[in-house]
Amino acid sequence: MVQQAIGDAQEHFGTVLAQQLERVERMKTSEPWLDFSTIKPIIIGILGGDGIGPFIAAEAQRVLEYLLRDPVRDGGVEFRVLEGLTIENRAKQLKAIPDDVLAEIRKCHVTLKGPTHTPEQGDGWPNIESANVAMRKELDLFANVRPVRIPRDGIDWTFFRENTEDLYAVGSQGVNVTPDLAIDFRVITTQGSERIIEAAFDYAKRTGKTKVTAVTKANVVKTTDGKFLNIAKEIAAKYPGIEMDSWYIDIMTAKLLDPARRAEFQVLALPNLYGDILTDEAGQIQGGVGTAGSANLGKRFAMFEAIHGSAPRMVETGRAQFADPSSMLRAGAMLLEHIGFEGLGHKLHCALDICGQYERKIVMTGRDTGATGKEFGDYLMTTVEDPAVEARWDAYVKES
Ligand code: IPM
Ligand code: MG
Repeated sequence: MVQQAIGDAQEHFGTVLAQQLERVERMKTSEPWLDFSTIKPIIIGILGGDGIGPFIAAEAQRVLEYLLRDPVRDGGVEFRVLEGLTIENRAKQLKAIPDDVLAEIRKCHVTLKGPTHTPEQGDGWPNIESANVAMRKELDLFANVRPVRIPRDGIDWTFFRENTEDLYAVGSQGVNVTPDLAIDFRVITTQGSERIIEAAFDYAKRTGKTKVTAVTKANVVKTTDGKFLNIAKEIAAKYPGIEMDSWYIDIMTAKLLDPARRAEFQVLALPNLYGDILTDEAGQIQGGVGTAGSANLGKRFAMFEAIHGSAPRMVETGRAQFADPSSMLRAGAMLLEHIGFEGLGHKLHCALDICGQYERKIVMTGRDTGATGKEFGDYLMTTVEDPAVEARWDAYVKES
């Protein structure tokens, strides 16, 4: 009995290893970053997702279409609404991303995606893989970039979360060796670590930052985290102007809360799961996970999303129109920056801060005691249109 169980698990482990070694070979031959200045039209796909997703995605699309109205008219940018990335359709086809939807996604250069429902055992849906995780793997979106800024506290953090490896790489291929023994696989590769850590250092260099922090638990998880940390040290040696330091994930979660310390962190590079957890904490410090946006970048494709979930209860209780589109719009501002409209992206970030944190002429409460997403979108468009929007932002930040 036991021999049989071990034999089956070994065979499965062999398959997983072969798949991962193939992936390593693919990473070795990876292409250069796409140059958006040479692409016409740049195609932006909109994926509504589940729950409040279609509501906040539509609002984000409306604002982006408004900001990009000139390039859209001149044929430089095209918007496409992609249907079918819903839990109903995914469950029906038993696919994390149905094939036809994936084919449409691949025709877009970038996508803006609403939250999608991630099934877990026993919630009534088939236990298919998360659409986010599948999209990150399918399109090789290896860098999950999540900025968190609180100007009045001197906080300006940019997280570079590795997005394709770690416990996520084969997260749905673990084995129940026997009814008592469950094993998952944690995957860290040289190539996967190098590309995310390099992206973090490149960003630091490009934006004048002076420190990159590697976050692991290399004292305990010696092999995989040990590799990630060693690679961080090797890469740091190639960036003489940038200091590297290293923290363990447990104390890091504490230090983000330490007012004496936290403003020292600038760019952080971490394996997938630590990055997942730490960025929720950081988002909460900024004012809630609903205030943060997330960029999933690969060399060829990129996907931008809110970091919160699909809030099905808001839809069930008829409150979807009160869902706050801020996080999607943050993601939209990152999308603008990524495709070469840095100026517009920056203005949108400023307007989001003004409307959401400082001026707050309209306040969203998530219910009928506050504004609707559409009213907030209108407020944002009026604010972003103000030629002095950046100066207003500066003034608010100085005053606070
Ligand atoms: C995130 C989310 C996803 C993740 C879930 C929905 C699979 O929490 O984007 O951080 O764990 O990566
Ligand atoms: Mg998360």
